[in-house]
Amino acid sequence: MSSVARSSDRPGRPAVFPMPLRVDAHHALPRAVPPSGRDCARHAGPQPRRTLPTSRIRAAGAQAADGVIHLGLGEPTWPLPKPAIRALGRVRACPYGAHAGTLPLRRAIAAYEGVDAAEVLVTAGAQGALFSLLQAFVGPGDSVLIPDPGFPAYRTLAGWAGAETQTYPLVSNAEGGLGRWHLDAEGLVEALVSSPRVRVVIINLPSNPTGSSASVQQLAQVADACAERGVLLVADEVYRPLSSSVPVPGLRAVTDTGVVVSSVSKAWAAPGLRVGWMTGPSNVLEACTPLHATATTAAAGPSQAAARALLEASDRVLPASRAALASRWQALADTWQAETGAVLDPPDGGFYHYFPLPPSAWNDPVAFCASLRDRAKVVVVPGLVFGEGGRRFARLSFGARPDAIVQGVRRLIRAGGVAR
Ligand SMILES: Cc1ncc(COP(=O)(O)O)c(C=O)c1O
Repeated sequence: MSSVARSSDRPGRPAVFPMPLRVDAHHALPRAVPPSGRDCARHAGPQPRRTLPTSRIRAAGAQAADGVIHLGLGEPTWPLPKPAIRALGRVRACPYGAHAGTLPLRRAIAAYEGVDAAEVLVTAGAQGALFSLLQAFVGPGDSVLIPDPGFPAYRTLAGWAGAETQTYPLVSNAEGGLGRWHLDAEGLVEALVSSPRVRVVIINLPSNPTGSSASVQQLAQVADACAERGVLLVADEVYRPLSSSVPVPGLRAVTDTGVVVSSVSKAWAAPGLRVGWMTGPSNVLEACTPLHATATTAAAGPSQAAARALLEASDRVLPASRAALASRWQALADTWQAETGAVLDPPDGGFYHYFPLPPSAWNDPVAFCASLRDRAKVVVVPGLVFGEGGRRFARLSFGARPDAIVQGVRRLIRAGGVAR
């Protein structure tokens, strides 16, 4: 690979805006082992050159028997809001459309995010935005700084781009992770300063899985540190419109640089539309658009029409989503209190309750959660899936239906699935 500017090539140099890598970077992921001998000649079909692990979040709920209550997958279970249903019903033509997304949708996103439509790239979910960003900005020899615990796709997508990951911890204000979690801006900056190969930093506020956020001051500290080093800061804000009470600050509260990633999947209750976006400076969008175009051409047209309708109705749709979540949180907190006597603090935002597992689970929390699935018939996601920092915890989604939350939480607690 030639002509690649790496952060490690320029330690201590003045700020350089992050430059994309070439898109034909050679990747360095494990290859499938080729078969050998006569069996090979007779049976072996084409072997994949590179393989990816399947989602460990989905794996937690796989092989669940009938009657198992699913509190694993992070998705809203309230109905698709009416503006989207009506927009889908009005679709009469289905052209490919512009790579960057339809202008009306980009305008609606721009109005919501407080940017210009030229600064918006519509992608296939937030996942599509993260994919293009990491493909464009990191490669072999680079590192991506991600939260621990954090959304597992960050590690997978960085690895797929050939880069390594380093982690910064999220911290709790009480021993054993029993208090409120938050971003440790100083810890993040320390990790950044000591890692010259870091080219991209990802923050996720509110966090999956902890539900924690950061103050404006902490965000500014992180944004300044990234800008000083020419490192691309990516803020994954898919849960931000779902703040519990006080609005959770986003990246745009502190800087016009860096990239904000979001989607209609969580707050607008439409994960199956597969519409997300990134907003950011033109050089970032220019680097990502050909990757996005190569992978998907454009987000699906009918989905974009529905997403536009949702965005334009944000003043009704988002309060309705917050109300749906508030009643689900109440069902969770009431059941938890009735079963344990403990009064729960809501997360800063999002729809995850991150809770401590009993010490007997710490050695093999994945097996412990699988046994809860089989014994208690309730699926929660082992915190270890989100990184070593989550080993002693598990995540449950209160995006689930209220009756499932009540039953599932009872089963979880009565089966000894929660530290007491
Ligand atoms: C933190 C975070 N980012 C991104 C995504 C992907 O969202 P999308 O459905 O928009 O691809 C998820 C989905 O669970 C998530 O939790």
